[in-house]
Order: sequence, then structure tokens, then C-alpha cells
Amino acid sequence: MIVTTKKLFEAAYGKYAIGAYNINNLEQTMGLFRGNLDSQAPFIIQISKGARKYSDKRMLEALIRAADEIFPEAIFAVHLDHGDEETCMDCIKSGFYSSVMIDASHEDFETNVAITRRVVEAAHERGIVVEAELGQLGGVEEHVKVDEANAKLTDPDKAKEFVERTGCDSLAVAIGTSHGAYKFSGSQALRLDVLAEIQKRLPGFPLVMHGSSSVPQEEVERINKAGGNLKGAKGVDENAFRRAAELGVTKVNIDTDGRLVWTRVHREYFMQHPEEIDLRPIGKIFMAEYAKFIAHKNEKLGSAGRLPEVRALLSA
Ligand code: G3H
Ligand code: 13P
Ligand code: ZN
Repeated sequence: MIVTTKKLFEAAYGKYAIGAYNINNLEQTMGLFRGNLDSQAPFIIQISKGARKYSDKRMLEALIRAADEIFPEAIFAVHLDHGDEETCMDCIKSGFYSSVMIDASHEDFETNVAITRRVVEAAHERGIVVEAELGQLGGVEEHVKVDEANAKLTDPDKAKEFVERTGCDSLAVAIGTSHGAYKFSGSQALRLDVLAEIQKRLPGFPLVMHGSSSVPQEEVERINKAGGNLKGAKGVDENAFRRAAELGVTKVNIDTDGRLVWTRVHREYFMQHPEEIDLRPIGKIFMAEYAKFIAHKNEKLGSAGRLPEVRALLSA
């Protein structure tokens, strides 16, 4: 059943966070639904602009509709990840997405407010909810001075003004993470202190943490042993998710860790089976491993086991 992220956040706020997972193909879709049902978790499917272009935007929609039929127990939101204004409007018009992210965080504050406001108006007219972003993720290097690094993080006072002026339904905040497999070098860290300040200004308002892959070292080692080259890859401590949830984070975005599962499974399999040319045996292994990975993340997020209470809340 497709629901809005807003509904999921009402159930989760302050207690746990919902996993938001990016998909690009059939195998990820099947693994995603299985993993969430195995762990009895509500979840968010994220579709990026790149994923919409990979084959055809209608292909992912069709896969999700099919999965919804195959797994009728599943409760999830369909969310556009890092949309620009044009893509947001396309998704809002399509009637399929229950939630969109407008990412105008690279613009100056006033432009970000104006673009976000336009998307919010169009989305709310159709009952679709909007995630916006303030602050900039990642790319902060060791040599950058503390003042400069802090300038990229979300300013708590500005966050309050931004939410009030845009009417967005949730806010992605920059608290020290970055996208991809190389997040923290040297002294960089997750800034739960900044998150706490944002929550003080926006009590009860759902916050979103992007760039939340943990880049498990065991996974990196297995990939490197099987011919990969991911030296120095490092991610977010997944044991910090529960504290972040207490501080208002209701959505945690994870994509890179899923890519690592895909890479490890395929590299190891083809090393061990150089004669193999059938894509299905490896596809089956990947789906099972991806499902295990999703269930594990949901345990860490605290969303595992919450499906019955979310179902009860939705039908109340
Ligand atoms: O934040 C970005 C997500 O990891 C999606 O990546 O744009 O390559 O699909 P993508
Ligand atoms: P990771 O690269 O840490 O998985 O972050 C994904 C993300 O933020 C998608 O929007
Ligand atoms: Zn992101």
C-alpha cells in the first residue's frame, strides 16, 4: 500500500526512523520488498533522476505497482530523491509518487525558498508531500577551516525560517554527512549537536538525514579482496541512527551500502564461477543478500517490527 511519507513520519517521530532506499532495477525492488517484510518494517522507496533515466521512468513505476500486488502487506511511500523543479512537477502530475524532494540547496536562501514554495503549492494541491533541503552535504575536506565547514551545515535559525516560509513537510539537514562511500576523513564527524539545535527550533517537525550509508568495513574488505579498489571508504556509524531519531530524524537515506552489497555479491560470484553466463543464479543471490541487508538496516533504524502498529494507525 502506497502512503505519504507524512503518515509514516507521524507514526515514527521521536521513536525510530524510516529507511529510505534507492532502487534502479527489478532485483533491487524484489530484495527491498522482501527485506522490509521479513523485518516487518514500513519503508520509503526512493527514485532518483538518474534512476528515472536509466531505462524509462515508467519501468520503475511498473515494477513498484507489480511489487505492491505481489506483496500486499507492504506499507511504503514512493519518493522522488533530489528532484529539481521540473522533475518534481513531472512526478506531482504523474499521480504515482506520494512524496517528492525538491533540492534547491545549492541556490541562495531566497531562491531556495521561492523554488521550494512553488513545488509545495503544486504538491499540496494534489495531496503529495514535500521534502526540502537547507545546508550543503559533503565535500568538506580536512583543510577547510572550522568556520567554513560549519557554514555548509544547516543553520538552525535559518531552518525554522525556511520551514515557516516554504510550508515544506520535512527538511533534509546537513549535519556532517556526504553522499557516496568516502564520507569522513580525519576529524570530520556526524554533528548531533547541530541536529539537537535544529530540533529545539522545530520541535515535532520531521528531519531527514541524507548520506547515511555506513560503508561496512567488512564489505569493503571483501570487495577489495575480490578485485575491487575502494581504499579509505568510510561511512556513518549505524548505531547513531537511534539517537538521531530521538532528535527528530524520521527518514534516513541509504543508497551506497546497497551498491556495496551488489558489488560484493557480483565480484565474489564471478571470481568463484568464471564459467557462468546465466544472469539468474547471481540475481537470486543478490535479491537474498539485498533483503538481508535491508532487514539489518531496519533493525538499526528501529523501524523493524513496526508494520502492525503502522497498519493499525492508518486504519484508525
Ligand atoms: O543521493 C543520491 C543517491 O545515492 C542516488 O544516486 O543519482 O546516482 O541515482 P543516483
Ligand atoms: P548514501 O550515499 O550515504 O547512501 O546516501 C544516499 C542518499 O542520501 C540518497 O539521497
Ligand atoms: Zn541524498
